[in-house]
Amino acid sequence: MTSDTALPPQAAIQTHGLTRMYGTLAALSNLDLTVNKGDLFGFIGSNGAGKTTTLRILATFLTPTAGRALILGHDVVREADAVRHVIGYMPDFFGVYKDMEVTEYLDFFGACYKIPTARREQTVKDVLELVGLSEKKGALIGALSRGMQQRIGLARVLIHDPQVLLLDEPASGLDPRARIEMMAILQELQRMGKTIIISSHILSELQTLCNRVAIIEKGQLIYSGPVQGVRDQVATGKVMWVRVSSDQRQAIELLQARPEVSAVEPVDGEIKITLANDDVDHSVVADVLVRGGARLVELREDEIGLEEVFLRVTRGDTQ
Ligand SMILES: Nc1ncnc2c1ncn2[C@@H]1O[C@H](COP(=O)(O)OP(=O)(O)OP(=O)(O)O)[C@@H](O)[C@H]1O
Ligand SMILES: [Mg+2]
Repeated sequence: MTSDTALPPQAAIQTHGLTRMYGTLAALSNLDLTVNKGDLFGFIGSNGAGKTTTLRILATFLTPTAGRALILGHDVVREADAVRHVIGYMPDFFGVYKDMEVTEYLDFFGACYKIPTARREQTVKDVLELVGLSEKKGALIGALSRGMQQRIGLARVLIHDPQVLLLDEPASGLDPRARIEMMAILQELQRMGKTIIISSHILSELQTLCNRVAIIEKGQLIYSGPVQGVRDQVATGKVMWVRVSSDQRQAIELLQARPEVSAVEPVDGEIKITLANDDVDHSVVADVLVRGGARLVELREDEIGLEEVFLRVTRGDTQ
């Protein structure tokens, strides 16, 4: 069963004009998204942005109001069964059966996916090893820590060896160490050739993990591409800081006279300079000062932190 829509061979997930209304609220508005095979793809947005809505549609649990979505060529509405076989979906909240033993629990899900009994034991062993919980195989789920329960949740979605993983905030509520462990597991899964989409509201958490990210806000896509590209998008009006040992007022006047500079102000003994746009070579600042006779002691570029970048993108003030 394949879809009649031609899908670029490298695309694992593709949405076209995906829209979901709740009454008059557009939880998702005309989303066009492509996730390539082998991507570890970060899906980022603040609370209520539409991440869960998107992932639930991709997981066939929610029907779109308009538009469509394809996973490995299968339409999530018309070919929902085929989609369910190729995806592993880890919801943002999932109940675990606290009175079950780890092995029993995973075996139960293996049976749901009709994995033959003879093969199930090995499969359960394999997924437990993958999430680093082999030594807990006989433990009651209720007796595991939160981080371990999250890992069991991940093991559960791996049981039928899906090609595409849809993970809704799998690291939420975990302590820093458990987060790092979760990220390491995801990297291992990527190395195994899986395509992974992971949602989060923390851009910096995904910057080293993911090769591509998308940012959504109020149901609309505002960026999709490499992490570095997000920074570039808001880097207009780069800020520089200089310190001079000569007259500060004279240095400020020199800078104010230049068209490449849009703002200059003294701050705590330093001069803060906002450049007119991102294309301005920052060596112009040193040039102007030295030629004008100022004595330059220090010059540095203001690195915009990723969280600041995210706030600017989601506030819409990216110029
Ligand atoms: N069943 C529902 N009925 C009405 N509105 C809903 C429903 N589910 C979601 N919404 C609305 O859709 C919007 C998107 O919600 P969604 O859960 O997709 O956001 P999210 O990005 O996952 O947020 P969070 O970071 O809080 O998990 C929100 O405004 C939410 O209130
Ligand atoms: Mg959510």
